[in-house]
Amino acid sequence: MQVRITSDAPASYATGALVLPVFSDKRLDGVAQAIDAALGGALSDVLEAGEIAGKTNELAVVHAKNAPYRRVALVGLGDREKFTPHLLANFAGTAVRTLGKRNFATLAFVLPEQAQANVLLSASALAEGAFAATLDGTTYRTEPDAPVVAHEVAIFAGSFDRAALEAGIARGSVIGEAVNFARLMALTPGNDMTPTHMAARAKELAAEAGLEFDVLDEARMTDKRMGSLLGVSRGSDEPATLSVMTYRGDPGNPDVLALVGKGLTFDSGGISIKPAESMHEMKYDMCGGAGVIAALYAIGKLKPKLNVIGLIPSSENLPGPRAMKPGDILRAMNGKTIEVINTDAEGRLILADALCYARELGATKIVDAATLTGACVIALGHAASGVMTNDDAFADRFLSVIADVGERYWKLPLYDDFDRQIKSDIADIKNTGGRPGGAETAGAFLKNFVADVPWIHLDIAGTAYLDSESSYLAKGPTGTPVRAFVALVEDLAKNGFSANGRPKSKVAAAS
Ligand code: BES
Ligand code: MN
Ligand code: ZN
Repeated sequence: MQVRITSDAPASYATGALVLPVFSDKRLDGVAQAIDAALGGALSDVLEAGEIAGKTNELAVVHAKNAPYRRVALVGLGDREKFTPHLLANFAGTAVRTLGKRNFATLAFVLPEQAQANVLLSASALAEGAFAATLDGTTYRTEPDAPVVAHEVAIFAGSFDRAALEAGIARGSVIGEAVNFARLMALTPGNDMTPTHMAARAKELAAEAGLEFDVLDEARMTDKRMGSLLGVSRGSDEPATLSVMTYRGDPGNPDVLALVGKGLTFDSGGISIKPAESMHEMKYDMCGGAGVIAALYAIGKLKPKLNVIGLIPSSENLPGPRAMKPGDILRAMNGKTIEVINTDAEGRLILADALCYARELGATKIVDAATLTGACVIALGHAASGVMTNDDAFADRFLSVIADVGERYWKLPLYDDFDRQIKSDIADIKNTGGRPGGAETAGAFLKNFVADVPWIHLDIAGTAYLDSESSYLAKGPTGTPVRAFVALVEDLAKNGFSANGRPKSKVAAAS
């Protein structure tokens, strides 16, 4: 996929399809009016006939006889007053996916005037959507059905700031590529995507993005006393890995953001084995780790002024003969002892040691992402990821920064009640607290391994993959949380590592 700007006029542009925005008020704007006139009112016709209502993800195609463009596609953008840049990802994605599957190789987009409010993020979202739309979940088919052939996307510069468009396209193309890397890793089944393979992929992408790379094998994990991660890995013949990707964007600065992602390449539940019904979906249990790998790749390419490390603990959770058993007690890197009540609560066990190691590597802020609990899916459905924290100001900053990235997050509380719920009779803590507040007790568990470092936990169990396709996204992995990670990193680089998001004026007013 190649996204670029053109200074040409839409009316005389040779392309497969000219893509025009239409809001739910169905009013044709400047460029669209001119095209409508050139086509003898064909666009008004389609709108009046009710073939498109202007809702997001809708598309209507008009044939353009004798015009340099072969088709005009009207794509819905919803309520004119509620426009935000990230909707352009749906806008572009819907056109690229729908028309790309109908054999259109080139598309040219007219931006809505509303994009003037933030040209860079608008162009970025458009590119992100275009990239996302090209990926199909059928990579293992010998013959794919109707691939997305669209590979060239132009954006009309019109009166938009060219530099901002260029910067936005560059950003969106990197993020779009990174998101697809994460989705492809997740699509790779457990027999190919082993912990060793995951580390190899992290190494490749680190090299491509100019990052430092290190990987701990089980011997080094043993040296580091990572008994919790090693405990999970015991049931499998595939050795665990802990990959570390390092980006030094601000070398003199002691501040380091650590991104930590659960990389369970297959979660059978272990001895507390899962029902067969949806077990195959547990190849997606490495989506947090894939998100960290992809985000670090994007960060290496985008070069923000910030130090970021990515940690990807990766393991299988299988009921092999040496597997950990319910009742076993593991000792994590920080010395805390953990009673294993349920071997299926393994994500928190591999994260525990990775969080400790992040601190050893100098992390002064930590964000982890994990497909951690079914309880989070019950609480928030597939509509949002859960956010838990030991630092409300940091979490609130995160929530405001990611408000328009196209991924949703919602805060869940970490009351002391949840700490009490995971007290063990025999060890320091136990790895489950029963069904009530299952997402929060998992968060409370992780809190034991970050000490006093400001930390945010993202439970992406309901959002990392979907079993339905949309107008622009194939079914399967979504790429969550790559876009949120990149947005957070950009904000920390731009607005200060410790500012914690409150607009400066408000901070001043408060003091
Ligand atoms: N990987 C699962 C969580 C999960 C469930 C992700 C559904 C995506 C969809 C995790 O390792 C797990 O099994 N969690 C258990 C914890 C329980 C045993 C305390 C769960 O949620 O049931
Ligand atoms: Mn599990
Ligand atoms: Zn799991």
